[in-house]
Amino acid sequence: MGEPLIAGNWKMFKTVGEAVDFVRELAYRVSGLHGVEMVVCPPFTALAAVSGLLRDLGAGIAVGAQNMYWENEGAYTGEVAPGMLKEIGCRYVILGHSERRQYFGETDVMVNKKVHAALAHDLMPIVCVGERLEERESGTTEAVVRKQVEGSLAGLSAVQAAKLVVAYEPVWAIGTGRTASASDAQQVNEFIRGLLRSLFGEVAAQAVRIQYGGSVKPGNAAELMAQPDIDGALVGGASLEVDSFTDIIKNAV
Ligand code: G3P
Repeated sequence: MGEPLIAGNWKMFKTVGEAVDFVRELAYRVSGLHGVEMVVCPPFTALAAVSGLLRDLGAGIAVGAQNMYWENEGAYTGEVAPGMLKEIGCRYVILGHSERRQYFGETDVMVNKKVHAALAHDLMPIVCVGERLEERESGTTEAVVRKQVEGSLAGLSAVQAAKLVVAYEPVWAIGTGRTASASDAQQVNEFIRGLLRSLFGEVAAQAVRIQYGGSVKPGNAAELMAQPDIDGALVGGASLEVDSFTDIIKNAV
C-alpha cells in the first residue's frame, strides 16, 4: 500500500481565525515529514482561508470539505456545489458521514449522487460507512456495511472507484472514546476491501484507501495503521488540538 492518509474532520468547530492559527502551527510541526498524506477538513466558512494559507506555505497538507450538494448550481438555498469547493482548492470531500445520515436524513442514494458529482469535479470523495451499536450487537455489521458500500458506490467504473477513499467509522466509536480494537477494525476493513474487489476488480480494490475512524488518538494510531487493510484514519475530536493531531500523524508513519 501507499502512504497512510490521515484526515482531520473538524465537524462544526473552529472560527476562521482559529482555523488559520491551527494550520499555520500544524504546517510548522509537520514540515519535512514524509511518508504520510495529511488532510484537514474545516467547516465551509474556513475552507478558503485555510486552503489559501496552506497553498502559500507549500505545506503539503490538503484540504477537504465535510459535505456538498450533487448539483453544480441552481436554486438550492443553503447548499454548496462541488465546483465551488474545487475553485477554492479543496482536494477531498467527506460524504455520507454518519452524522449527516443520522441528523440530516442522508441516504445511500443521496451519497451516491454526491460521489458521482465529486468525481466529475475532480474531488476525491471520502465515503463514510459504519454500523450502529445495536447493529453490531445483533451481528449485522457486515450486512449494514455491504448495503452502504453497494448503495453509495453504485454505478461507478473501476477507474472511478480507484480514486475513492472509504472511511469505516463504527457509529458507536465516534466521539465516545471507545475505539474499535485494531483487529475488529481490520476485520471490517478487510471485508470492505473484498466488497470493492467483487464490485470493481483487484486493481481498483487495492488502489482504494480504506481509513478507520472513531476515537483515533495518538496512543492507538500506530496499532490501527499497522493493520494490512487500514490505510489511514479519519480523526474527529483529536484533530482539533494541534498536539494530538500532530502526534497521530507522526505515529502513523
Ligand atoms: O469523522 C471522524 C469522526 O466521526 C470520528 O470522530 O471524535 O471519534 O475521532 P472522533
